[in-house]
Amino acid sequence: SQTFWKKMHILGDLFLIAALYSMRSPKSDHFVTYRRFKDMDFTSISKTFWKLHEEALWNQLQLAIDRHLNPILNPQNAHRRFKSRAFYDSLLRLSFSQVTDLDPTRRKIEKLPQQMRDFVSHMKRRNYQVLIQSPNATCGAGAVNEKEPPLLLLAVKSTHLNFKNRQAIRQTWGRVGWVATHRMNGGQRQEVGGYIRRVFLIGKEYTRNSAWNVSELLQMEDQLYGDILQWDFDDTFFNLTLKDVLFWKWFTHQCGQTRFVFKGDDDVFVNTPNLINYLHDQLEKPHADRTMNEFMVGDVIAAAFPNRVHQSKYFVPDSFYEGLYPTYAGGGGVVYSGQLAKRLHKISGRVHLFPIDDVFVGMCMTRLNAHPTHHPGFLTFDFRGDEEKELCAYHTILLVHKRNPTQLIELWDELSKTRSQCLHVPLRMSNKKTSLLG
Ligand SMILES: *[C@@H]1O[C@H](CO)[C@@H](O)[C@H](O)[C@H]1NC(C)=O
Ligand SMILES: *[C@@H]1O[C@H](CO)[C@@H](O)[C@H](O)[C@H]1NC(C)=O
Ligand SMILES: *[C@@H]1O[C@H](CO)[C@@H](O)[C@H](O)[C@H]1NC(C)=O
Repeated sequence: SQTFWKKMHILGDLFLIAALYSMRSPKSDHFVTYRRFKDMDFTSISKTFWKLHEEALWNQLQLAIDRHLNPILNPQNAHRRFKSRAFYDSLLRLSFSQVTDLDPTRRKIEKLPQQMRDFVSHMKRRNYQVLIQSPNATCGAGAVNEKEPPLLLLAVKSTHLNFKNRQAIRQTWGRVGWVATHRMNGGQRQEVGGYIRRVFLIGKEYTRNSAWNVSELLQMEDQLYGDILQWDFDDTFFNLTLKDVLFWKWFTHQCGQTRFVFKGDDDVFVNTPNLINYLHDQLEKPHADRTMNEFMVGDVIAAAFPNRVHQSKYFVPDSFYEGLYPTYAGGGGVVYSGQLAKRLHKISGRVHLFPIDDVFVGMCMTRLNAHPTHHPGFLTFDFRGDEEKELCAYHTILLVHKRNPTQLIELWDELSKTRSQCLHVPLRMSNKKTSLLG
């Protein structure tokens, strides 16, 4: 029919443009860690670690907020029962002007690298408009016929021009609807599964000298797939934190019933069936109700230092942030409960934005006194050595970074072909509490 050919035509355009832009600069390596611990107890790391350094801008800003909320210094604030968003917004602004109106601070800001100055000048703003929000992207879509709330929402950070990545994800690990999986339970093969949803988190992109209007293309893509969530801010590296903050807000209003969130990059491979089984295991554990309140799992990085290499895209000067980073789960892919997403939404109102998104999430976690759990199935640094060549390698993992769209499709195919052979292969296990990975 006519609409079919219209869709094919749009698809053709999208692929063509993706091909033209596929020469874009590759992402440099994501991570800045120096020490990674497995399954250690991190509770000993102070939850107010940033108080100790009063010289750096971010530390100063956060300290100002913390002072306002200190029950001894400001009992009237601390005892407020209901702390509204407007209250936190005014607190963010107040603390910001208190710190940045001082001459020494202004001089400090002037000396920051351009990108960081740009970040600071937009740092108190979070209220960006939603530009595209397909009604189908909401977690309730299709709920009429569904017998339970969605198990998992896949929230994938993407950019306008990464159409190929999105397309590969849609065809492979990002399929939506009811996804049936099988697991071994006491020697028995058991069918489980869950309703899956998908949304791509996208900012705004300017492409100079382009014959195409990329905004219009993104709208067309959303008409085809109904899985785009776009906001009105520049899609730059230092703006990625806005994707967390604004996603939590959207989630709280649109997806509150969803049990789990996967949030990750558009160049990762996720073993969704394994993830579904793993999440069912978590829900069946004793006291799951309570643990879900702070459930977050991923590749946990502890005691990382900020990157001080000027050329790095992760560069954070010590005049901006001092001290170690809080424990955080690497942003390539992390899974947390819907309950925690809603708590993160609330607490994020009293943490100043930080330019590295996964570190910011770690900061909010620290504020909630919650701790991410490390799982060795999250290979954000890829397989080690020849491990990948083993027949069932991909059946032992939850996620691996990084894979291109072609690889995603090949790997997904392999995964289905080897499924029955590898059914008995377990997920990589967490090491004992005391073991340390150098
Ligand atoms: C692109 O399309 C959008 C939406 O139709 C429109 O608002 C915008 O002005 C267009 N931009 C250009 C450069 O034509
Ligand atoms: C959105 O949902 C409606 C109703 O469920 C459906 O008819 C339509 O095809 C969906 N659109 C997309 C792009 O998935
Ligand atoms: C973030 O987005 C805003 C709004 O588009 C923009 O003005 C600002 O320059 C961006 N910040 C960075 C650090 O790129």
